[in-house]
Amino acid sequence: MHWHILGAGAIGGLFAARLGLAGIDVSLLLRSPQRREQLKQQANRLSLQDGDRVEEVPVSAELIDDQGPISHLLVTTKAYDSAAAMESIASRLQPGAQILLLQNGYGHQQQIAQTFANWPLWAGITTSGVRRLAPFQLKLAGEGETRIGPLNQAAALCGALPDGWHRLKHRVIATDIERALWQKLAINAAINPLTALLDRPNGDLLEAQYRPQLTALCQEIEAVASACGQSLFDNPLLDQVLKIAEDTAENRSSMLEDFSAGRRTEIDQITGFICAEADRHGLETPVNRELLNAVVYRQGRA
Ligand code: PAF
Repeated sequence: MHWHILGAGAIGGLFAARLGLAGIDVSLLLRSPQRREQLKQQANRLSLQDGDRVEEVPVSAELIDDQGPISHLLVTTKAYDSAAAMESIASRLQPGAQILLLQNGYGHQQQIAQTFANWPLWAGITTSGVRRLAPFQLKLAGEGETRIGPLNQAAALCGALPDGWHRLKHRVIATDIERALWQKLAINAAINPLTALLDRPNGDLLEAQYRPQLTALCQEIEAVASACGQSLFDNPLLDQVLKIAEDTAENRSSMLEDFSAGRRTEIDQITGFICAEADRHGLETPVNRELLNAVVYRQGRA
């Protein structure tokens, strides 16, 4: 078994390290020779800091344009990049290659499921938090857990989890992935745009001044989920969001990190998706719409 990882950012690096620590061969698919050189300068090791402990995990690297078959593919690119990134390596996928999508956002998974209908395809969500300290040097900000479920029949026939994932020294749970994707979408839609626009860590959302906006935001998201036939959590979304903001109080959300680094955000796949579904069902979502417009404006795309 050999996992290739498409999207060697913080989450891709974290799971490359976790697979490597479980004794599984891992190759990062890198976009440029410069990135490969950076990894070489670190003796082809990923460094993962967890509290006082630092693990050095050997990994190999290939360029996306290289040839050579891929039997197991983990996709951790940004959601908006994933369909194009997968097209770029499609010719390397062996028949029956296992594919796992581990990303924020909703909608792109279904698009990929259509294009790659002949391959066993799983999707997952993770609550692990990780920060990039330097190229290929990561710091674990929260162990979290990872939920995975089959997206198509071909995957369901292979098993609840793709090859090797039960061996990770990390909580990996086989799940009803549709519900899990909606749950993660709802949490991200509540936390990410607000923290990005405020330039504040997740825990600051607990302050009373943000409660009215957060409450309205959560109610809108719940209404959209319900119109789409999805029940989110057993308790109100607001309670869940406050708990996650507390558990990840020091974290800067991925959207805030993207903003700070001048990168494109996943707003279209998160709040954009919520607003599009609201439109489809004739629902008003003014708070989500305002956040969507503000983030798009700040990205310079308005
Ligand atoms: O996108 C993120 O940053 C994370 O999914 C979450 C849960 C909001 C924690 O920061």
